[in-house]
Amino acid sequence: MAREFQEIQGFETKSIHTADPRSEVFGSLTVPLYMTSTYVFPNAETGGARFAGEEPGMIYSRIANPTVEVLEKAMAELEGAEAGLAFGSGMGAISAVLIAMIKSGDHILCSDGLYGCTYGLLTMLKEKFGVQFDLVDMADMERVRAAMRPETKVVYVETPINPTLKVVDLQAVADIAHAGGAQLVVDNTFMTPYLQQPLQHGADVVVHSATKYLGGHGDLIAGVAVGRKAFLDELRFSTLKDIGAVMAPMEAWLILRGIKTLSLRMERHCENAKKVAEFLHQHPKVTNVYFPGDENHPQKDLIARQMRGSGGMIAFEVETLEGGRTLMNSVRLAQLAVSLGEATTLIQHPASMTHAVVPADVRRDEMGIADGLVRLSVGLEHPQDIIADLEQALAKISEPVATGSDKGKGPHSAA
Ligand SMILES: Cc1ncc(COP(=O)(O)O)c(C=O)c1O
Repeated sequence: MAREFQEIQGFETKSIHTADPRSEVFGSLTVPLYMTSTYVFPNAETGGARFAGEEPGMIYSRIANPTVEVLEKAMAELEGAEAGLAFGSGMGAISAVLIAMIKSGDHILCSDGLYGCTYGLLTMLKEKFGVQFDLVDMADMERVRAAMRPETKVVYVETPINPTLKVVDLQAVADIAHAGGAQLVVDNTFMTPYLQQPLQHGADVVVHSATKYLGGHGDLIAGVAVGRKAFLDELRFSTLKDIGAVMAPMEAWLILRGIKTLSLRMERHCENAKKVAEFLHQHPKVTNVYFPGDENHPQKDLIARQMRGSGGMIAFEVETLEGGRTLMNSVRLAQLAVSLGEATTLIQHPASMTHAVVPADVRRDEMGIADGLVRLSVGLEHPQDIIADLEQALAKISEPVATGSDKGKGPHSAA
């Protein structure tokens, strides 16, 4: 269905042309939307052959759908993978991949920060099925090596980590995982394939919440996994088909539309976030700023090697929880909402929202999420408007809570 693009190098070109259906349907420039649950077999023999895997062809939209398949191929192309598989949500993709890779008694080693529901999933797998997991500070490769066990089957990483924005060296972690017989799974939601391609740094599988930057407009819930074709073929007929977190064709169509502008949007998210982070760094009521784009970031070399840009996410702290609450209740342009990666700037409080499911001690001591941490998904509005909004909201916090000399305490703060 999609054209062959071995000769095209540019991400921008691929993101527009990989989903090109012209040869098939009326010359339609955009991908046709196949809103169908099932597919009519021309005869009983063909139906049987498709079920037996002896003939290609559609069977039922919980297994495959032509619109969704175009997105799967496009995502594989953009991530540099053999194949892609679409899911009904980011959590659908993460759970299907992990469940396919592990069994009772196995161990999963994770970065010391994970999206709250991923942590919730791991807790459920532990409590119900005896799957063990540990969080480890992946800034220190000796610790990663020491935390590997004979039963470690998966090393699971977010980078930059949600919401602390710590960056993990993927190739170094991949080498340790592979030496220990484990596979590396990377959640690339914060970066998208435009800014980071984990498979080129040793990852085996990449998962996405396509709800975020890939869709880009805050109008859908979806997930994608990319990796080796044999593994994803197996997933299609096991954890996708039998658990059933399948992507609807309309969602695939919207994401295909979204990724045509992914490079432009990501460039602007990066530019805007840089300006907002600079503003936050110099603000007296902001005590810490965590942003991979900081000039003096301690992981600057790694960031330059692994990421094309620093992304649109910023985390920061004001001195008290009450101050954070005042800030979130005072923004006018930014919207108080979870999720991220869309045109609208979104602000939220991880300790009481996205990461509330993580026990407070794990959240504070192992993940480094302070109670006062605020997460900002910088949108596509004019940066001066975003800054003006934050400025008026910060002004509502009653006491000046920090002086310039108090700043720069956080591990990624560069003020
Ligand atoms: C980093 C990350 N991974 C996965 C998810 C889950 O994605 P979804 O909400 O599409 O299930 C999220 C959601 O916020 C996320 O931030």
